[in-house]
Amino acid sequence: MSSSRPAIQMVDLRTQYLAIKDEVDAEIADVLDTSAFIRGPIVGEFECSLAGYLDIPYIHGVANGTDALQVAMMALGIGPGDEVITSAFTFIATAEAAALLGAVPVFADIDPRTFNLDPSRIEELITDRTKAIVPVHIFGQPADMDPILAIAEKHGLAVIEDNAQGVGSTYKGRKTGALGTCGTLSFFPSKNLGCYGDGGAVMTGSEELYQRMKLVANHGSARKYHNEVVGINSRLDAMQAAVLKVKLKHLDAYISARVAAADGYDALFADNPAIVTPYRDADCTHVFHQYTLRVPADRRDGLSDHLKAAGIPHAVYYPVPLHRLPVFTDGGARWGSLDETDRAAAEVISLPMHTELTEDQLDYVAGAVNEFLAEVAV
Ligand SMILES: Cc1ncc(COP(=O)(O)O)c(C=O)c1O
Repeated sequence: MSSSRPAIQMVDLRTQYLAIKDEVDAEIADVLDTSAFIRGPIVGEFECSLAGYLDIPYIHGVANGTDALQVAMMALGIGPGDEVITSAFTFIATAEAAALLGAVPVFADIDPRTFNLDPSRIEELITDRTKAIVPVHIFGQPADMDPILAIAEKHGLAVIEDNAQGVGSTYKGRKTGALGTCGTLSFFPSKNLGCYGDGGAVMTGSEELYQRMKLVANHGSARKYHNEVVGINSRLDAMQAAVLKVKLKHLDAYISARVAAADGYDALFADNPAIVTPYRDADCTHVFHQYTLRVPADRRDGLSDHLKAAGIPHAVYYPVPLHRLPVFTDGGARWGSLDETDRAAAEVISLPMHTELTEDQLDYVAGAVNEFLAEVAV
């Protein structure tokens, strides 16, 4: 482990901003100048560019990634008593959106290699109340969509891709978010395409569903003061669109920087048998929203303390899988066996991952991890 201690952040938003400061500041100044703050022209411009980038006809910006899930589910008519099959190894929002609408989240186990929904565990959970499957492209690696789409088609279910973490990733050559019935995005600042506040989007290839999602996100009204259904107020604002317009131009470079950092980590961990580095599915491109290791469960907390002492930020995504959270343990959700989900929650640890990591920083982080796990027998 290197003796000098570089300052390392889990996500370095400031250095990234400084590199594009002129562009961002100019776009924000334009918004201030026109003062079209709510759904000004820049929002439509950004939606259009993003639709081109993701190769999907319709995108609508909303206030955050949680709303995006709720808007998609409302537009699909998901409501009380319906069931939505998803993963318990994700951020709460994925299941929360269903629960908020009175639907029941149903958790299927994950593939231990990718941490994504295991398609072979979905069908056993389908009932006549099931309305949708929500795969999450967790940590930036696409879920195995073909079998999920085949199951959905066989049972007449919608597929909502929760792509908060996977923007720009591809599955069999196609961008994620554009593969199912609809997709959702979060532009939370730390996301691969992050704004400087909250933001999100819904997307679909169906004009009808797009119109419905827009309606739901706008108080249920297509024409002002002529509300047709109960909706919500969820808008991507012009300031955030200004930031996103600039950052979208850099997204491929950002993804390349993340992949390069992941390659660097992989090489530094290659000789450590106690560490399982992120699996990369040959059919997919992984965009490394997180770089997540598996380590022996009985050493994980010790490793965390060791990294803390070395000044290395890190995180456990997710320490408590959703089926073990109080919000769902008293009847709000249903699940089968989730052994792989529980095992992942006990073994994972995510290391600093962002677009500005230097070789020195990678060396220092990996050195500290290897040092702590050097003597672990596997
Ligand atoms: C998988 C997943 N889904 C949904 C969300 C919710 O996004 P937001 O924080 O923008 O509401 C997040 C963000 O943290 C996420 O990681």
